[in-house]
Amino acid sequence: MTKITLSVIKADVGSYVGHSCVHPELLKTAEQYLRDKGKAKLVDFVVTHVGDDMELIMTHRKGCDNDEIHKLAWDTFMEATRVARSLKLYGAGQDLLADSFSGNIKGMGPGVAEMEFEERRSEPVIVFMADKTDPGAWNLPLYKIFADPFNTAGLIIDPQMHKGFDFEVHDLIDHKRITFHCPEELYDMLVFIGATGRYCIKSVYSRTLNDIAAASSTQRLNLMAGRYVGKDDPVCIVRCQSGMPAVGEVLEPFAHPHLVAGWMRGSHYGPLMPCSVNHSTPTRFDGPPRVVGLGFQLCEGKLIGPQDFFADTAFDKARHEANVIADYMRSLGPFEPHRQGLDALEYTTMPQVMDRLSGRFEPIE
Ligand code: F6R
Ligand code: MG
Ligand code: MG
Repeated sequence: MTKITLSVIKADVGSYVGHSCVHPELLKTAEQYLRDKGKAKLVDFVVTHVGDDMELIMTHRKGCDNDEIHKLAWDTFMEATRVARSLKLYGAGQDLLADSFSGNIKGMGPGVAEMEFEERRSEPVIVFMADKTDPGAWNLPLYKIFADPFNTAGLIIDPQMHKGFDFEVHDLIDHKRITFHCPEELYDMLVFIGATGRYCIKSVYSRTLNDIAAASSTQRLNLMAGRYVGKDDPVCIVRCQSGMPAVGEVLEPFAHPHLVAGWMRGSHYGPLMPCSVNHSTPTRFDGPPRVVGLGFQLCEGKLIGPQDFFADTAFDKARHEANVIADYMRSLGPFEPHRQGLDALEYTTMPQVMDRLSGRFEPIE
């Protein structure tokens, strides 16, 4: 049997009201388009959303970075954009940075997380999707899932996990990558992945199974567009069980909301609130940032599911905690550390204010 590829490709192609949600007509349009045009290319697909981001979860046998699959996703987003424009939805076509497709959707606006693997006897996967934040949001949970024995009991108890995991980390500024072998290089790795605006965990590999365990999207819209175009609202795929972390170990880091960059105008820190698809609509101060976790069992590439994990009442406390943290952070208003530092605001109006006032700054004796 040829390997299966799981591709999660997302874009914000127009939202209602403001930057809060994907209109049902857009989801319907994308679904119909994939059903018609994806018939010969895809094994299966699910169209969903988190906040204002449309998510295409697709399985196929063409491998990662396949131009046919990427073009299919691009054309689906274009089709949905047409509907968004006809309804005068907000920010129609916002994440599509080019007029036409050019071979690989990466670098053109949409976010992409993909992995190719041999489907195991039973293949549970979780697709995480976030709104109002950026790819650095996955560093802390991926670290906990694959490297922290206080989170993942399997690192101690499961003989197939005891050897640890390899982490591929990308430097999004200098476009370089490095692989850390953990647990022995944990402290070295943390020097980098603690800086979530620059270094992002791109993928994780099981050292025992010699196989991919997780993959994330690391596209940074601002860095590509050279101007402020919102945050990147990342996605991440994690394989579970039988030598990979258990489903519950993969969900566990989200029980305590961590602070992520994003929220209002992509310029503030706020708690990442776990929620169901139906509760993924950001409201307060355009947030707080949301994360949805959809579980699937793969069956010869068919997506059996989804299981909307964060709908569970076990995450009620995390939501409450996120609201308490949100309240506290909001009380700081325009001051750091609620507002992001100046270098992170580089792509907002801040440089214009600086330019305008630069002549009025005088040396201090
Ligand atoms: C953040 C986000 C929103 C917008 C805000 C202003 O990622 O999408 O918080 O930045 O609503 O939007 P504009 O500039 O489109 O009025
Ligand atoms: Mg938007
Ligand atoms: Mg969004």
